[in-house]
Amino acid sequence: MTTPTKTAGATGALGTSYRRVEGREKVTGAARYAADFPAADLAHGWLVLSTVARGRVRAVESGPVLQMPGVLAVLHHGNAPRVDADYVGLLGKPDPTVAVFQHDRVPFAGWPVALVVAETPEQAREAAEALVVRYDEEAPDVAFSAGRPGVYTPEGNPRMPAETTKGDLEASLAASAAVVDAEYTTPEEHHAMMEPHAALAHWDGGRLEILDSNQGSRWVAEELAKLFSLDVASVRVRSEHVGGAFGSKGIRPHQVCAVMAATVLQRPVRVALTRRQMFSLVGYRSPTAHRVRLGADRDGRLRVFDHQALNQTSTIHEFVEQSASVGRTMYDADAHHTVNRVVRLDVPTPTWVRGPGEAPGSFAVECALDELAEKCGVDPVALRARNEPQAGPVSGLPFSSRNVLACFEEGARRFGWADRDPRPGVRREGRWLLGTGTAAASFPSGVAPSTAAMTAEPDGTFTVRITAADVGTGARTALTLVAADALGVAPERIRMRIADSDFGQAMVAGGSMGTRSWAWAVRTAVRELRDRLDLGGDIPPQGITARADTTEAVAALSQKERHSFGAQFAEVAVDVTTGEVRVRRMLGIFAAGRIVNPLTARSQLVGGMIWGLSMALHEEAVRDRTSGAHVGPDLAGYHIAAHADVPVVEADWVDDPDEDDPIGLKGVGEIGIVGAAAAVANAVWHATGVRHRHLPIRPDRVLAAARNA
Ligand code: MOS
Repeated sequence: MTTPTKTAGATGALGTSYRRVEGREKVTGAARYAADFPAADLAHGWLVLSTVARGRVRAVESGPVLQMPGVLAVLHHGNAPRVDADYVGLLGKPDPTVAVFQHDRVPFAGWPVALVVAETPEQAREAAEALVVRYDEEAPDVAFSAGRPGVYTPEGNPRMPAETTKGDLEASLAASAAVVDAEYTTPEEHHAMMEPHAALAHWDGGRLEILDSNQGSRWVAEELAKLFSLDVASVRVRSEHVGGAFGSKGIRPHQVCAVMAATVLQRPVRVALTRRQMFSLVGYRSPTAHRVRLGADRDGRLRVFDHQALNQTSTIHEFVEQSASVGRTMYDADAHHTVNRVVRLDVPTPTWVRGPGEAPGSFAVECALDELAEKCGVDPVALRARNEPQAGPVSGLPFSSRNVLACFEEGARRFGWADRDPRPGVRREGRWLLGTGTAAASFPSGVAPSTAAMTAEPDGTFTVRITAADVGTGARTALTLVAADALGVAPERIRMRIADSDFGQAMVAGGSMGTRSWAWAVRTAVRELRDRLDLGGDIPPQGITARADTTEAVAALSQKERHSFGAQFAEVAVDVTTGEVRVRRMLGIFAAGRIVNPLTARSQLVGGMIWGLSMALHEEAVRDRTSGAHVGPDLAGYHIAAHADVPVVEADWVDDPDEDDPIGLKGVGEIGIVGAAAAVANAVWHATGVRHRHLPIRPDRVLAAARNA
């Protein structure tokens, strides 16, 4: 074999568009997703969810159902194996929703009350729908709003305090020439990824094997091991292909149900969720309410920045949407206050959804900034330039890099912002009022410890093993390019094996940290391997393997404010006689570190922006206040932007290598959605002269606003 050259980048693999290495498998249907795997003697579990939102299960009448064709078992709180949900996992204590069938209490509508297992999915479903469950029902409280009782400030932690304060808000407000004091809300939103959750579990010679669809196979393996009091070495989780995740694909009830049933029946069991079940079982973005108070000098320089955010959580687990992160990164003022508050309701526990914190938080803050720009008569881009902080507004730490103004400059130039008439409601085209809007974007750029192994094979190829997850992002391809570049060989010589918990500990695909964290480990493994290959000699049949663990290198990083940034631009057309809003074009320019694969990175950014459009105009899960359950929990009732809603969306980037990363990476997974909804909402104001502070900007809201104008 040829030894790799010493010159990193010799192949030019990094920074060149490269098609997904598994693309052919996916488009030909050869790629298998979690619900596709065959297994001998496979049984099928179907979940039964509570129809009441609060109360107790009085009886699960499984007798008649057990007589139905093919039915093998009905698991419920009276007979299910016990689990230990009192552990602290990678991300803290688990949401007790995963500890299925442990008690008779029902904390929200759509809570798992039974699992029917049968020979075929059809038999399981038939029996699950026939199962009678009786409840003692109590009236639920699901009414989320600012100013309602029960709101509290959570404890927070040093890395994410619930509240930060400096200066005297009231005094600085009194001294401000211009003040914005407004409330903004966003509704309950769902991940709505293409592939529903599914898991196949079976015991293989004393080892638990799970074929799953997740964001971190090692993470899920460790959580399952803790839950079932097993040694992690006796649990193997794989997740070869994932059809979208967005924060919802960690440990969820379906894997736990599959393991329980496989254990009880001693045969392979698959549990696949339906789209409707996903609305209560896999997390969602909480509705949020924000009060934003800005005070500024006549020229727009901020004296006051106050962001008070509220989200709901369940009665059984605390999840805090970190909406107030935006101001802690983006804007400084003499008087600065941020807080994330919570209220516990009879609802499922919310979770991370693409751009957690920043997505809803930026809607409130970036709309308020636009209102301030209007009040001060300052251009929105100039207003942001005037308020660029020199250091972290709360931390006081320096920024690793902060290229937000470069994004605005490039974006404004390409969007034609200079020609914009600042007056609202003046551009008309037939029945349409036209407007443009902008907003800033930021998202933390983190990195977490990961391990990787790299083997030089006798045939001249290289095999990389890492518990990475490609949830549709193109991570597998990006890592292939990283490995090829570091070795100085063609990408075709790299075999990238991912998403197998047996490969060891690695960061999950989350927090926009996956590819960066894994790339660091892959790059380190290459260095180790090079040293060993430099010793010379032949490659033995089993190859030569080097291992890497980035724990120490990552811990040695200095404390800095580390973020990706961006500038969002949107143009909309509004027909105030029908309430129709059409987005005509969007442009996002980002500073998101060095870009590994422009083809898939652009797709990530554009995907985020489209979600922002969807958030601005379409998405809203509606909960019935009497029953506590969703109205229309499916993709007919829950609208997401479809092709016809999406215009030309362009994403590009400015040069922004991270100097503290061995490859210069940040992350591209989430920054695309941040600020996108605000840019659309600000454009709707510019078109119509009416501020829409509540998402989504539905036709009825546009009509009502026009009537009242
Ligand atoms: Mo993402 S919402 O950090 O999976």
